[in-house]
Amino acid sequence: MTPTPARRAANAPAHHRPLPQPRPYEVRRSAIQGRGAFATRAIRTGQKVDEYLGERISHEEADRRYDDANGRHHTFLFILDEDTVLDARYGGNDARFLNHSCDPNCETEIEDGRIWIKATKPIRPGQELTYDYRFEWQDDYGAEEVRYYRCRCGTPRCRGTILRVPRRMQAQVRAWLAEPARTRGR
Ligand SMILES: C[S@@+](CC[C@H](N)C(=O)[O-])C[C@H]1O[C@@H](n2cnc3c(N)ncnc32)[C@H](O)[C@@H]1O
Ligand SMILES: [Zn+2]
Repeated sequence: MTPTPARRAANAPAHHRPLPQPRPYEVRRSAIQGRGAFATRAIRTGQKVDEYLGERISHEEADRRYDDANGRHHTFLFILDEDTVLDARYGGNDARFLNHSCDPNCETEIEDGRIWIKATKPIRPGQELTYDYRFEWQDDYGAEEVRYYRCRCGTPRCRGTILRVPRRMQAQVRAWLAEPARTRGR
């Protein structure tokens, strides 16, 4: 007997098992930036919203593909670990449209080499789904980089930049963001 899709899913090994329900969000224009992901039904705390999918590449290949030195940053990369980055531009799903927020309602969790997006609080239909990107801070970063990665989440808790700011740099980063920008295009 040919198994029905539902039975096939139930018998599939864990790493092939899809989400238990259809994904609870849709993609449309966002006030934060470009397109974003918006809940289409109520989502409970801890619920898996989706898996972040994409081509698995090395950090060197990610650096080759994307040069942040020019223009505005726009990335579909997700760092899985010290060896691997997922590039959602290739083989990615709509999970790549979740925007960053400094006061998010989702988080990412890595399980057996897979990246899951999970709700960290109850989410109502229509609310935008976000997580904190926490872009890695580099010691040579200054005002230019902080402004380059300026955050537009618009929440009262916004730290002003998508970068994860070390505690020792927080006051300096606030000062840099308060200064008028001196460089063009960033
Ligand atoms: C994975 S994409 C998210 C989807 C994106 N809005 C789009 O339409 O393609 C990540 C990019 O979205 C933009 N972005 C996401 N959250 C942002 C935020 N809070 N502030 C400014 N730009 C943001 C940045 O350009 C970032 O590199
Ligand atoms: Zn923010």
